Amino acid sequence: MDMLYRSSFVDFVPSGHLVLAGLAAFIVVAIVLNALSQVLFADPNRPPVVFHWIPVFGSAVSYGMDPYKFFEDNRKKFGDVFTFVLLGRRMTVALGPQGNDFVLNAKLSDVSAEDAYQHLTTPVFGNGVIYDCPNHRLMEQKKFAKSALTVQAFRTYVPIIVGEVRNYWLKSPQFFGGNPNRASANAHLMTAMPELTIFTASRTLQGKDIRAKFDESFADLYHDLDRGFTPLHFVFPHIPIPASFRRNAAQKKVSDTYMAVIRDRRQRGDFSEFDVINTFLKEGIYKDGVRMTDREIANMQIGILMGGQHTSAATSTWALLHLAADPELCKALYREQIEVCGEDLPDLTYENLQNMTLLNYTIRETLRMHPPLHSLFRKVRSDLAIEGTHYVVPKGHYVMAAPGVPMIDSKYFKDPVTFRPSRWAEAKNEINLDDSGEATTVSKGAKSPYLPFGAGRHRCIGEQFAYVQLGTILAMFIREFTWTLPDSSGVPRPDYSSMVTLPSEPTNIVWTRRKVGEKKPVA
Ligand code: HEM
Repeated sequence: MDMLYRSSFVDFVPSGHLVLAGLAAFIVVAIVLNALSQVLFADPNRPPVVFHWIPVFGSAVSYGMDPYKFFEDNRKKFGDVFTFVLLGRRMTVALGPQGNDFVLNAKLSDVSAEDAYQHLTTPVFGNGVIYDCPNHRLMEQKKFAKSALTVQAFRTYVPIIVGEVRNYWLKSPQFFGGNPNRASANAHLMTAMPELTIFTASRTLQGKDIRAKFDESFADLYHDLDRGFTPLHFVFPHIPIPASFRRNAAQKKVSDTYMAVIRDRRQRGDFSEFDVINTFLKEGIYKDGVRMTDREIANMQIGILMGGQHTSAATSTWALLHLAADPELCKALYREQIEVCGEDLPDLTYENLQNMTLLNYTIRETLRMHPPLHSLFRKVRSDLAIEGTHYVVPKGHYVMAAPGVPMIDSKYFKDPVTFRPSRWAEAKNEINLDDSGEATTVSKGAKSPYLPFGAGRHRCIGEQFAYVQLGTILAMFIREFTWTLPDSSGVPRPDYSSMVTLPSEPTNIVWTRRKVGEKKPVA
């Protein structure tokens, strides 16, 4: 009896090997069915699909490793429009200026940015703002923030940034490390530039009281927010790992800190600084009369600081690396400073920056070759026809613009992989751009080959501020140092593994002071 029982039990319950074999068979069948469905049942009314072996996972590896190679390879096969599977999502890419226009200027009723980004951003920024509210609220929030970013404010920001940079050099081990006579050293840019970016942005955009918090615990809390803002969190926003728990705790602490600062300013009745917090306190009333709550104003500050942090830190790092490889350009930039400011190089002003054409071209060229955001997404809300084709992107899929693709296309930019800021002096002849004459803006339309700040209703509000911040920081480097790359390996290749395109390590420069003994540390 016992024998009978045992043998039937063994027959009934598969061994570990059988389970594995069953699983393997299931995977093989799923892969074969997935492959056959792509080959046999391609819908002629849908954009062509990039062939992938593994269902759900799709083209995640080839896209994630090098999105530009992925776009180029598939453009050769399919043209400007194609679909790929990315971890369960169906993404239709539309390349080129027409593609930028199609995605970035699509109607609100057809596509949604909040449905594409909200799961990633809300745990970091908090509730009620940016993508955690109806789109018309975001438009007004952007308007409030934009009204703080005026020329009048920028005039006060330049000397503040100058002071912050000096102070940073003096203290940072990457630079003088407390020894104002240090004449030369090796600096790790991906340490220094994120720090300089957050110190200068918080001091100017959010005021002295917030800046002071970065000398205490705030920097660590912002790190915790950062570590919860990764491609992994894009796919699994609430994945139960320490980084997600720390992100959630940091969001609350940072937001509470902003609220405490808001209460303190109200009590003191001090709204004198030209910062974004004060502007929200004064102007944060929506058209329908609803006033933004303190919590929303606090969360908005996180969104604004994070929006400019990685983008600007990556841009200044790339610019310094390219300049390290081009001593002639550095000399020309130094000459420009003397021409604009005078031999004795007095402290920079906002007006000086506007007159430094080559400096602004250098930023523009950096953003052409290294736009921090390589892919901009929208979720499709109702079936969306692609003009000039017979394709329809169905509701529930995503559309994706890749503004960086035309920026390195020889159709629009001669010799596109060469870093050459002076090309912008010839730009009107070289390419058909609507140059408004402002140093920072090339074209406001979406059908442009140059859109590092996006276009349409979700266009960046931080462009002018970014130029002021980057321009001041770079100009300070130019007048203070000469620098080179530590070896002959050249400017590093891009690394696409985080949310913005960063240079791969090592990101070091070796700097040498132009003149020692004239430092003006700012308390
Ligand atoms: C939106 C790039 C700096 C705040 C965007 C978008 C891009 C971009 C491409 C469009 C996103 C999309 O369409 O999905 C950049 C670059 C920067 C920079 C390259 C610096 C070099 C800043 C700064 C701030 C900021 C300094 C804040 C002061 C924002 C905000 C949005 C935005 C609030 C709007 C999001 C929306 O409407 O959906 N940025 N940005 N950015 N950026 Fe920036």
